[in-house]
Amino acid sequence: MLSSRSLLALLLPPLLLLGAAPGPAGALSAEERREMVELHNLYRAQAAAANMLRMRWDEELAAFAKAYARQCVWGHNKERGRRGENLFAITDEGMDVPLAVQEWHVEQQHYNFSAAACEPGQVCGHYTQVVWARTDRIGCGSHFCEKLQGVEETNIHLLVCNYEPPGNVKGHRPYLEGTPCSQCPSGYRCENSLCEPMSDPEEVTETPSFLATEASDSRKEGAEDPAGSETYAGLTSGSGHIWGPLLALLLLPPLVLAGIF
Ligand SMILES: *[C@@H]1O[C@H](CO)[C@@H](O)[C@H](O)[C@H]1NC(C)=O
Repeated sequence: MLSSRSLLALLLPPLLLLGAAPGPAGALSAEERREMVELHNLYRAQAAAANMLRMRWDEELAAFAKAYARQCVWGHNKERGRRGENLFAITDEGMDVPLAVQEWHVEQQHYNFSAAACEPGQVCGHYTQVVWARTDRIGCGSHFCEKLQGVEETNIHLLVCNYEPPGNVKGHRPYLEGTPCSQCPSGYRCENSLCEPMSDPEEVTETPSFLATEASDSRKEGAEDPAGSETYAGLTSGSGHIWGPLLALLLLPPLVLAGIF
């Protein structure tokens, strides 16, 4: 029999982190943007991946994410097209970028790499997007939502991150296991266990061939569709039924919402 305290511990293990400095209520600061990219790259470098690209900030993706964050909806952007997307929301303390990335990455514990599958009933899609080897651009926007559609609690800081090329391609693992950088695309060098283009990516005008391959693979096999359905067992979008236990705990500040989709 679980006491309410141990139940809380079960449902909210790493969620209640205090003392984070509140960010500005509505936009990511330069510092938060830097943290976002660096934390992604930290987790990416830690994966024993042979082909992990370095991720960099993309202003167009950031503007796209910000525009959606302003709509204050707790659910994936159905208009996101061929962009990956991770969401995070938090009350009270304000936006906490390190916590957001940590919350996404912690889903690793439920991901079975050899089976390329998430444990039934669990969510792994945020994690696999964070460490998706071929995703090399991220852009995020945050917005303070007095009312967040789909959530009863009020006054929530919403974070939306979009990714290109998108991860979570059905039937694919997030990366190739192996010696770091041992399978970087041609034209890439190794820098701190991550593959980095030899030329400034901003100056690259042609799509690298591996990206073209990825795109056609995705079309053939079906990238995760914009509704976020059924790429991984337990991944659902907008249905809200995974919410039950969390909604019951909304009285405990700070509420952190992640891992719903
Ligand atoms: C992961 O999946 C493989 C292959 O399906 C299976 O043999 C193994 O037991 C799974 N590992 C865990 C920890 O569930």
